[in-house]
Amino acid sequence: MRRIVSPGSFDPVTNGHLDIIGRAARIYDEVVVAVLINISKRSLFTVDERVGMLREATADYPNVRVAKFHGLIVDFCRVNEISAIIKGLRAVSDFEYEMQMAQMNYSLAGIETLFMTTNPLYSFLRSSLVKEIAQYGGDVSSLVPANVAQRLRERLSEP
Ligand code: PNS
Repeated sequence: MRRIVSPGSFDPVTNGHLDIIGRAARIYDEVVVAVLINISKRSLFTVDERVGMLREATADYPNVRVAKFHGLIVDFCRVNEISAIIKGLRAVSDFEYEMQMAQMNYSLAGIETLFMTTNPLYSFLRSSLVKEIAQYGGDVSSLVPANVAQRLRERLSEP
């Protein structure tokens, strides 16, 4: 089975992430979306909440599976028999860091990284901006799936 992983923080998943995941799912037999467990990074949603939102948002893709992981992505790949990582590139500014990670992951374990150019509709989109806009009452309904927009409203209205 040809399997690829889409790793990230997904705090929360955006339409830009979903665009890459959906396009990868048309090319590969299975896409594993892997949510990083990173206790040192402050997040708006817990890992399990992020996994839940991703599962709802990808429910229409039969060959997309959502998991969480900690440690190195190359170890997750080895355990799950995954040979490649898929990453979306929004702009040239993404490239330098992504290239370093790609080369490091290849040198660590021979894991390939494939880059997919983001749909131009989403080239400005990142989770941190979505959170900031939502925090100040801006409309994010065109930027994230409906379930995420709802969860953002609920989370940000909590005292
Ligand atoms: O959504 P993000 O936060 O940009 O995703 C970054 C992520 C999770 C893809 C990256 O930090 C990662 O792969 N972390 C796992 C730890 C690891 O393997 N580090 C070495 C990378 S060369």
